[in-house]
Amino acid sequence: MSDQETNEIVDPFKPYKGRFESFSAIPQKGRSKDKIFEELSSMAGEEDAKWKTGKVSGTFYHAGEAHCEYLNKVFALFSHVNTLQFDLCPSMFKMESDVIAMTANMLHADAVKEVNPEDGVCGTMTSGGSESIIMAMKTYRDWAREEKGIKNPEIIMPHTAHPAFDKAGMYFGIKMVHIPVSEPDFRVDPEAVAAQINDNTIALVGSAGNYPYGLIDPLDKLSDLALKHDIGFHVDGCLGGFILPWFEKLGRDIPIFDFRLPGVTSMSADTHKYGFALKGTSVVLYRNSKLRRFQYFNTPDWAGGMYASPTAAGSRSGGLTAATWASLLYLGEEGYLREAKAIKDVADAMIEGVKGIPELSLVGDPTFVISFGSDEVDIYHVNDFMNTRGWRFNCLQLPPGMHFCVTMPQTFVPGIAETFTNDLKDGVAYAKSKAGTPAETAAIYGIAGSLEGNQAVTEMVYGVFDHLYSL
Ligand SMILES: Cc1ncc(COP(=O)(O)O)c(C=O)c1O
Repeated sequence: MSDQETNEIVDPFKPYKGRFESFSAIPQKGRSKDKIFEELSSMAGEEDAKWKTGKVSGTFYHAGEAHCEYLNKVFALFSHVNTLQFDLCPSMFKMESDVIAMTANMLHADAVKEVNPEDGVCGTMTSGGSESIIMAMKTYRDWAREEKGIKNPEIIMPHTAHPAFDKAGMYFGIKMVHIPVSEPDFRVDPEAVAAQINDNTIALVGSAGNYPYGLIDPLDKLSDLALKHDIGFHVDGCLGGFILPWFEKLGRDIPIFDFRLPGVTSMSADTHKYGFALKGTSVVLYRNSKLRRFQYFNTPDWAGGMYASPTAAGSRSGGLTAATWASLLYLGEEGYLREAKAIKDVADAMIEGVKGIPELSLVGDPTFVISFGSDEVDIYHVNDFMNTRGWRFNCLQLPPGMHFCVTMPQTFVPGIAETFTNDLKDGVAYAKSKAGTPAETAAIYGIAGSLEGNQAVTEMVYGVFDHLYSL
């Protein structure tokens, strides 16, 4: 791809070029705080205006101005604190232990004792969903090497599981075996998983729910398989972990997805998504502390003194830990149930809206991620149109589709579900009028899927990163 082509892709992501000064060196003399604050406020204001319309899918797990202000105030108390220094800052392990225990309890940690009284759910806090997943995968690799002598580990995952699993496979030399999902229900087929289990299989993965469709895999069946083969089973609740429990309490029909399943050996749940904490926190949980040991790291004989850390990160800001703790305590079950109900009400109205448009077909039985495609129109034309109305969907591919993940910002905009439905209807009409012409969205989606296509897309994306990092 030529520089000019890459520039065309990247330019829209660099709206500040030419408007605000770029810096290739630390200024000789510091700038005034007012000037700095003015520029930052202007960027923040413009960016906030986009999602405050309620038209942006997922991304902003923002529980309102007052909640955010409160978290920022809490953050300030500990912004300078390093969670790693547990001797100097004992508040950190105190708060993290509380967050881990509260998360474990929400995910029915008590159930593990009924299966084995020696087990007890424990975990660590991490910097986000990806780190939680990466840590769990490293844990299984090291567990299987030590306990089973497995040197060429394999982990089986639905193709819909988050790419953080593949990242872990790449980092730790684990072969990630993908199981395709397909119509009609788009959830992984346990028999297809079973067929891939061999002597090198160390763990299985399932999602509650997955990113593309928000669907919950048949976790009970995967749990049985994990028990039968004495292997690990990670349930990725990064997205659903902090909302599905409340849907269940609200009486919704949610299949069991947590430690009540006897084969579940680890879970990830993101406090920085539906936990409504600040960005940069998540929880990874294990069925017992023996397993968690394989996550830890220590260099006993380093010249700089003994260096130990429970997760991949070194220093982390205590502000994030404190804000997470404060979010859970302030909202309480009552608050989470209230927010979950508000989200579900909007999601239900949007689901009904999609159902009322015959050209669109929903993927599976949606909860809070509404995913759909079409056999009658090019769905990417619909996305092109929705962009013109200020909507920001997430595009899906193989097969083509789009999804909208409902978070709190939608609940702040009265009538958002009606606007969504009406705009979608217009989007379908637009797509019909454009039949036979290429959609703009298809310039990016629609290339991958073959070896050459995947290589071309990767090359393009890496080029975009390079350009984004240029001044
Ligand atoms: C199902 C699922 N797992 C994991 C992740 C990764 O989380 P993070 O972006 O916090 O690293 C996401 C993010 O959207 C997700 O939806």
